[in-house]
Amino acid sequence: MKVTIVGAGNVGATVANVLAHKDIVEDIVLLDLIGDLARGKALDSWQQAPIEYFSSRLMGTDDYADTADSDIVVITAGIPRKPGMSRDDLISTNAKIVSSVTQSILQHSEDPIIIIVSNPLDVMTYAAHLTSGRDRKKVFGMAGILDTARFRAFLATEIGVSPKDIQALLMGGHGDTMVPLPRYTTVAGIPVTDFIEHSRLDEIVQRTKKGGGELVGLMGTSAWYAPGAAAAQMVEAIVKNENRIFPCCVKLEGEYNLNDVYLGVPVTLNKKGIGKIIEVNLNEEEKNMLNTSSNHVKAVMDTFDSMGIS
Ligand code: LAC
Repeated sequence: MKVTIVGAGNVGATVANVLAHKDIVEDIVLLDLIGDLARGKALDSWQQAPIEYFSSRLMGTDDYADTADSDIVVITAGIPRKPGMSRDDLISTNAKIVSSVTQSILQHSEDPIIIIVSNPLDVMTYAAHLTSGRDRKKVFGMAGILDTARFRAFLATEIGVSPKDIQALLMGGHGDTMVPLPRYTTVAGIPVTDFIEHSRLDEIVQRTKKGGGELVGLMGTSAWYAPGAAAAQMVEAIVKNENRIFPCCVKLEGEYNLNDVYLGVPVTLNKKGIGKIIEVNLNEEEKNMLNTSSNHVKAVMDTFDSMGIS
């Protein structure tokens, strides 16, 4: 198996590094137009191999020819947020980058599974899917695992249990309109509401929605450890043909009564990409929140359309 990661910034380099530690693919290519950056980070990561005992070979490059015959491609290319910016503010720069990366990748790999990580995530997934002309189950975005992980991590700290035992579900766009679902959140199978007051749970939901922004505020740029680990987990589910269930951003074609919008929903991931798109029962309040999130993403999709890139 060969996995290409486009963009050797903090997120792309972390995806490569986490994936190398999993030791589940033969080849990892880290590509960046700043070739020496990709070469340097790949070489540094590779030099851990004798210490960390992995065999996945890492290479850095600025030449798309080196990505030839990739099975999976993770696109992290683009600029990150600075304090005061929303993810949507990145659209004019990142849409062109993501579209052109997708074109270049497909010149060298026939049928790769493409995972988008660049922001604004839902609309960059749209841009890549449109440019690719491929099946929606082969071109999808990473956000839900990250947002759910933030929710789970906050709950683990609050309740004082291992994050391993927190199961949660979060849907919708990767932004302030995302829809955490406390009704589907458990601690070792026990409803989370048995452990925590509603008002405190609501505060944690609000913190989760702004979780990315909290980190931009702290670091002056956006996060990379958890986003990188989340993308690597998607690659792992695909490589191992696991059929794991994760919220991923995919084009909806009637699911949840929504059409032609790219939104995070639970799916199964296997060696073909997305297997099933799972339709969870939502109550009226949850449906309304999902519709609000969908309307927000659609508005940003309209901005992308008006740019005439694809
Ligand atoms: C975040 C960025 C990567 O949520 O969107 O941290």
